Amino acid sequence: MKKTRQPILVIDSGIGGLTVLYNLVLQNPNCDYIYFADYVNSPYGDKSATFLRKKLIENIKTLNKKYSPQGVVLACNTATAVAVGVLRRVFPYDFIIGTEPAVMSAVNDNKKNILVLATPNTLKYNKLIAEQCHNDNINLEVLALPNLATYIEDNIDNLKLLKPIVQSYLSPFLPHIDSIVLGCTHYIYLKPMLREILSTDIKVYDGNVGVAKQTHRKTKSYKNGRIYVITNDARKGANLISAWNLLAKEGSIICAE
Ligand code: DGL
Repeated sequence: MKKTRQPILVIDSGIGGLTVLYNLVLQNPNCDYIYFADYVNSPYGDKSATFLRKKLIENIKTLNKKYSPQGVVLACNTATAVAVGVLRRVFPYDFIIGTEPAVMSAVNDNKKNILVLATPNTLKYNKLIAEQCHNDNINLEVLALPNLATYIEDNIDNLKLLKPIVQSYLSPFLPHIDSIVLGCTHYIYLKPMLREILSTDIKVYDGNVGVAKQTHRKTKSYKNGRIYVITNDARKGANLISAWNLLAKEGSIICAE
């Protein structure tokens, strides 16, 4: 790739961030995107913050040398919660945009009983969730799911298999919640299943469209954008292909606002 076209670097531990990439491309197809899936260090959800910050810095340094991106999108709530501050200090990009649980979208919609699903690290390090937990007008509950992202990775070709486990996670909350915030980009693939499980008065939120709009406002565009998907573990290439095919087939359902 010519250095005159500066791509946007989009990063996640696996397939989750492809749901962000899908929205980025819809929002701005006139940009080059390098998607990097860090399977060697996945899952991110329960690794130590020190380890994740080190790996994210190493990965971005390597990708920076090769692709000279104009900016970075952390298509991962966990990487954002753990490292966005550090990465902004280390790398002088025009932008480093993070993905965060869309709690404020639910609050702004007047939702009062909100359930946030996320990895243990996101729930530990995301400041907004901690703040909203102390908002007297809102009952905000959180559910840490250490394994769900891996289950989604392992079953991307047959997500239906996960329905009983997803139902068992949610059933204690269903009688009293009015909204669910998907605080992990892997969980976005479950949206069609959630519509089957949830009653119509429970709304589901995620931050992907917001990330795409925010990124679009900051990017330099070119004609005829291109997408490169890369990973440090080629054995997982089939996962990325399956996930992208699913997005191509059901993207408008999976990525709907
Ligand atoms: N997709 C990621 C997120 O949004 C991380 C999943 C993982 O690696 O645990 O948090």
